[in-house]
Amino acid sequence: MILLGELGMRNDNVTRYEAINEIARRRGFFWSSFEIYGGVSGFLTYGPLGSLLKRKIEATFREAFLKPLKMLEIESSIITPAKVFEASGHVKSFKEPMVECSKCKRKFRADHLLKNQAEMSDSETEKLTLKQVSEEFRRHSIHCPECKGEFGQPQHFMTMFVTRIGPYSDAVGYGRPEAAQSIFVEFRRLFEVARERLPLGLVQIGHALRNEISPRQGPIRLREFTIADIEFFFDPENPKCPLLKEFEDETLRLIPGALKHQGVKKPLEVGVKKALREGYIETEWLAYFMALAKRFLNSLGVPDEKQRFIEKLSWERAHYSSQGYDQEVLLDRLGWTEVSGHNYRADYDLKQHMKYSKVDLQVFKEYDEPRSVDQLSIKPILSNIGPTFKKEANRVIELIASVDAQRFAQEIEKKGYFLADDLKILPKHVQVIRRKVEEKGRKFIPHVVEPSFGIDRLVYVALEFAYRRKEDRTLLKFPREVAPIQVAVFPLVTKGGLKKRAQELQMKLSREGFEVFHDESGSIGRRYARADEAGIPLCITVDKLTLTDNTATVRDRNTWRQIRVRVEELVHHLNEYFNHKIEFEDLGKIDN
Ligand code: GLY
Repeated sequence: MILLGELGMRNDNVTRYEAINEIARRRGFFWSSFEIYGGVSGFLTYGPLGSLLKRKIEATFREAFLKPLKMLEIESSIITPAKVFEASGHVKSFKEPMVECSKCKRKFRADHLLKNQAEMSDSETEKLTLKQVSEEFRRHSIHCPECKGEFGQPQHFMTMFVTRIGPYSDAVGYGRPEAAQSIFVEFRRLFEVARERLPLGLVQIGHALRNEISPRQGPIRLREFTIADIEFFFDPENPKCPLLKEFEDETLRLIPGALKHQGVKKPLEVGVKKALREGYIETEWLAYFMALAKRFLNSLGVPDEKQRFIEKLSWERAHYSSQGYDQEVLLDRLGWTEVSGHNYRADYDLKQHMKYSKVDLQVFKEYDEPRSVDQLSIKPILSNIGPTFKKEANRVIELIASVDAQRFAQEIEKKGYFLADDLKILPKHVQVIRRKVEEKGRKFIPHVVEPSFGIDRLVYVALEFAYRRKEDRTLLKFPREVAPIQVAVFPLVTKGGLKKRAQELQMKLSREGFEVFHDESGSIGRRYARADEAGIPLCITVDKLTLTDNTATVRDRNTWRQIRVRVEELVHHLNEYFNHKIEFEDLGKIDN
């Protein structure tokens, strides 16, 4: 098969999406896994260029988010005992509506069919009960897109992969659908390791699994994918973000929930400070991470006008979220596509794990000075409890011991009784004792904001925004820090000692930490074209002159301009160039 790209041709009917998928397969960025067995959708294999690109994106992510806040990274297991996801609420909530064609037996996500065939929005479909889904299918006469067959009744499908841990059938495990939960589960130890400081950013970049019903969008919707979850813990009584100053005037393109609800599609262009003041964003840390996320996307090549943040309405939000914005990027064929989610998880997760594990996950914060506070305790009055509750007296005593004294006292005062389960406890059954105690600090559950990125989506986004055509050739104009390979080294011809000289230079640059590509086959023009298509910013060509004056030609991918540079100054100049200290035109200039 002759491929269009190899011929330097372009079929104008080919969308950017198709062109990128074609280059991705042919040049080894990525392709659909298990090809020789017919492929299974939702799984992706990264080839050499793709693995490098993905690593560069992860490195850029670490640089952008982890460094400024000294966040700590962890790596934990993907298979997770059921208890964790029962506690987190995923077992109950991690499901999608599904329909099965009664003729061809294919299964589809019901909400996706409603979006495609009934032009419903995400926010409309998210709201529907199964009964309403069924009614909408009937109303819009939705049939199987493959065989036009009738659909049966919609059902919920749990999208976590389920397995058994070891040989025990009752030891159920799930493939984690997010990397966040292990951070919450390990919080106690991590907090100790971090010397009990708040705020504290804990991060995990790793594989997550979601058993998608019918993924069809290549790297955009995968069953196994790489997620980068930041769980940022802070004291809810001290929610200020001291780093926000740097971003106060940064403009975000926002569609807040209230506007989205009115059907507004055009984002507000609003400064971070104003977004907080107007209450579009509830917490400073969330606003800070959104601004950081915008800049991060800029560094991957996505301009401001191709990004936006859109708020999730209450029924669209994940079960753990009190406020959530999706960061979306405008893609050529796919339209606005989520690349990251920014959720205020408050104390939801730690609270749930405290409840299920019975382990105290609160943190203790010492006051600067001890404070004198009123302490309440409740003492059961046995002589009154016995006659009222008889056989239930012991249960009442246990209940009194387990309730929060403050809440108990407040309810008794307000209503004249306290209802514990089905038992009505009256003031005569308890003695509320108040005394002054000295408190050294307070215990509380930290709150969490979570920026979470889909790394595979970012790989695709970086490719789409790098993609250019120039004189019938394809160029991938990756930003310097993201380019999978930084330099190519070519001998102009393989004779006359040039091959050896080019290999020596390649080795030298590799040893200096550059990702270097060596290519000596075909004409120099073809080699440049291949390098442009792999997104290599600079090509260095060693020629006859190199042997006499020790200079080489450096060629710029973007402009195809060439400059002569002294070989012994290359390392220094390349370092400056890749650290954005100089531009291409400055490469040959000698420092004084
Ligand atoms: N932890 C982020 C997510 O589940 O999407």
